[in-house]
Amino acid sequence: MKALITAGGKGTRLRPITHTNNKHLIPIANKPMIHYAIEAVVEAGIKEIGIVINPDTGNEIKEALGNGEKWDISLTYIIQENPIGLAHVVKVSESFIKDDSFVFYLGDNVIVGGIKRFLEEFRNSNNNCQLVLSKVKDPQRFGVPEIKKGKIIKVEEKPKAPKSNFAVTGIYFYDSHIFEAVNNIKPGWRGELEISDAHQYLIDKEYRVGYSEITGWWKDTGKPEDLIEANRLVLEQIINHKESIIQGKVDNHSEIIGKVIIEKEAKILNSNILGPVIIGKNTIVENSYIGPFTAIYYDCQILNSEIEYSIIMEKSKIIDIETRIERSILGKSIEIVKGNSRPKTQRFILGDQSNIKL
Ligand code: DAU
Repeated sequence: MKALITAGGKGTRLRPITHTNNKHLIPIANKPMIHYAIEAVVEAGIKEIGIVINPDTGNEIKEALGNGEKWDISLTYIIQENPIGLAHVVKVSESFIKDDSFVFYLGDNVIVGGIKRFLEEFRNSNNNCQLVLSKVKDPQRFGVPEIKKGKIIKVEEKPKAPKSNFAVTGIYFYDSHIFEAVNNIKPGWRGELEISDAHQYLIDKEYRVGYSEITGWWKDTGKPEDLIEANRLVLEQIINHKESIIQGKVDNHSEIIGKVIIEKEAKILNSNILGPVIIGKNTIVENSYIGPFTAIYYDCQILNSEIEYSIIMEKSKIIDIETRIERSILGKSIEIVKGNSRPKTQRFILGDQSNIKL
């Protein structure tokens, strides 16, 4: 059994964060998103993993993940020249997968609880394809199955009139019949080789397409608010099950309530922290309040400010900001600083598609 994890695509819905960063490296609870996919696959016992990258941002992924030594696995990088669909991702990976069965895992999907149960259900089923479904409020955003008498009879990609309230999540189990499907389908209305069309092909050819249901939570981090929500859910899971871990320094003038992780060399000075919160290595929080569901990555400075329910990426500075910052995502090396010069104005240097609510 092998695994194929996506780390390519365009990431357009997460701009401006993805103008300069590969979306799969955005930290969720201070860990690059793609680590969750790798760890879920490794935990299920799979050691041969293909990572599909694009030519533009692939090197960033290679540098971040290396050859897999960290997890005691082998990582093979597969280049998809153009992001023309998930079925195309499978197609370009055929020489890596060969005759094996495999799990296809979209690297921008985050679930807690792993995939072991689904893998076992696939193994015990003798299905050719096993889809993992999750109930959602907005099925229009996803691949949607139509289910009759416990069987999937149809799968549609982002339908206007969904036939169920299930989404097909980005976790799929296949045997090698999937290659027949991806080699025979044609591009859909988005101009992409759609994975849902490959599933429909298998159904039409009467291959066995089964499903498992996620009962815990699952997030496709397609939109910025999904990232903030995934961050909240992961923080809730990780931190509420463990004692606080404080490896950095917390001075006597600070108060910590709830579960927190304060990483090495971080300093909390004269501040209030209300968990669940994670503060990264070498970050300084001084005269500040950090509220629930906030992840602050490494080498940041938060001085005389208040932040809640947010993701702050590495090397960012928030200094002397009077209004509480919440539901925000700050990219790398962002500075939000109160200026002292007259006239009192607000000055911005913002990249394309930045988004500010004052
Ligand atoms: O997350 C679940 C959904 O994922 C499913 O319900 C849909 O049926 C499926 O088509 C897919 O929809 P999205 O529109 O969310 O896929 P997206 O384009 O965001 O790409 C998902 C992942 O695959 C992401 O890691 C980027 C990567 N990708 C995508 C394309 C189109 C590639 O590596 N290459 C590609 O060509």
